[in-house]
Amino acid sequence: MRIEPAAAIVGHVAVPGDKSISHRAVLLGALGEGETRVRGFGRSADTEASVRAMRALGVDIADVADDELAIVGVGLRGLRAPEGPVDCANAGTLMRLLTGILAGQHGRFELTGDESLRLRPMERIAAPLRSMGASVRTEEGHAPLVVEGSDALHGIEYALPVASAQVKSAVLLAGLNATGATTVVEPVPTRDHTELMLEAAGVRVRRRPGAVTIEPPAALRLGEVEVPGDFSSAAPLLAAAALVPGSDVTVHGLGLNPRRTGLLDVLERMGARVAVFNRRRSAGEAVGDVQVEYAELVATDVAGVEVPLLVDELPLVALLAAHAHGAGAVRGAAELRVKESDRIEAVTDGLRACGARIHSRTDGWTVTGVPTRLRGGRVEARGDHRIAMLGAVAGLASSNGVEVEGAETVAVSFPGFYDLLDSLVRR
Ligand code: S3P
Repeated sequence: MRIEPAAAIVGHVAVPGDKSISHRAVLLGALGEGETRVRGFGRSADTEASVRAMRALGVDIADVADDELAIVGVGLRGLRAPEGPVDCANAGTLMRLLTGILAGQHGRFELTGDESLRLRPMERIAAPLRSMGASVRTEEGHAPLVVEGSDALHGIEYALPVASAQVKSAVLLAGLNATGATTVVEPVPTRDHTELMLEAAGVRVRRRPGAVTIEPPAALRLGEVEVPGDFSSAAPLLAAAALVPGSDVTVHGLGLNPRRTGLLDVLERMGARVAVFNRRRSAGEAVGDVQVEYAELVATDVAGVEVPLLVDELPLVALLAAHAHGAGAVRGAAELRVKESDRIEAVTDGLRACGARIHSRTDGWTVTGVPTRLRGGRVEARGDHRIAMLGAVAGLASSNGVEVEGAETVAVSFPGFYDLLDSLVRR
């Protein structure tokens, strides 16, 4: 797909429901008592994989509307082993969280996924689950996974070797069906949607700085989940507004969980004009409207504790840096190498092909900014939705346009992305 340069990006929009929260609502609703209504469900290839997986495991899920589900919970141990493997498609969140859940069910389960998911590291969840008494087999650290459900799991205290909300969540979810408390200690804070939703479902969750503990509950009761707009889906629109002169974009009803909004801090440091209105809370999650207006950008560095707060937005940070005054670096982000693609190479190759001065490092990149439009060129998505979106924003901010190879992969998280973007573009 060819993305032509934009004269400006202007308007008010909303984006589909948060992918991380939508996955969790389906998984926890399935384990609940009675019906869970999920409103604002962010329908995408990834979250549909969660719905299909839970249906395959015996859960009744009705599509009430495109953005609404009615889930009839089967209880904490009520999932049924299907005949064949459960297909997690491209969804790492689904595979890792579901493995934690299946560890304490009855029966034998096989989990598989697409080629990209089968390349991603799974020993990081298998190891702590085994130490809880679970039987999880990987193929040399990768999917397909085989889980033999056990009713003899026990709680552990686990210190995460890498900052990963997916690993934290897998352990906590296994803890639902374990004896005793389960504690996860994090090296730096990661997104806490699992903890917040467990709390909303009635689980006793204790939080202290750097650690979270849950007690196994008698039952989960979610009732209603209102999913806020996905910050990671809004991020390309906000980045485009910061990059293209004359732009002014407001995204309404956006999830503003502070462990997701690191990009807003980076934009502010870079000199973009950012405003947040209508701050409110919905089902334990912060929500609000975010406006970004164009301003000249200055370079900034991102490292360490900040990385998990914008992990999925780091490709956009590279593009912002390429247009800023001065040199900026991302460090401490080696996790990007094991996302849907090796995002360090995908970002540096893609942006270099568009004229950016960017070099990869083992754990990030360095960029020398040039405060003018990039030439443009060709960005290969490599089957990675976030890289396709990066290519699209690069095209809008370029002087000659960008050809995005594999553009359709945006449907993994945001099927209507190009139409929504187009509705904001002034040529
Ligand atoms: C997610 C956690 C992050 C993130 C992913 C979604 C989640 O992954 O990159 O897109 O929903 O918990 P890691 O836990 O591997 O950092």
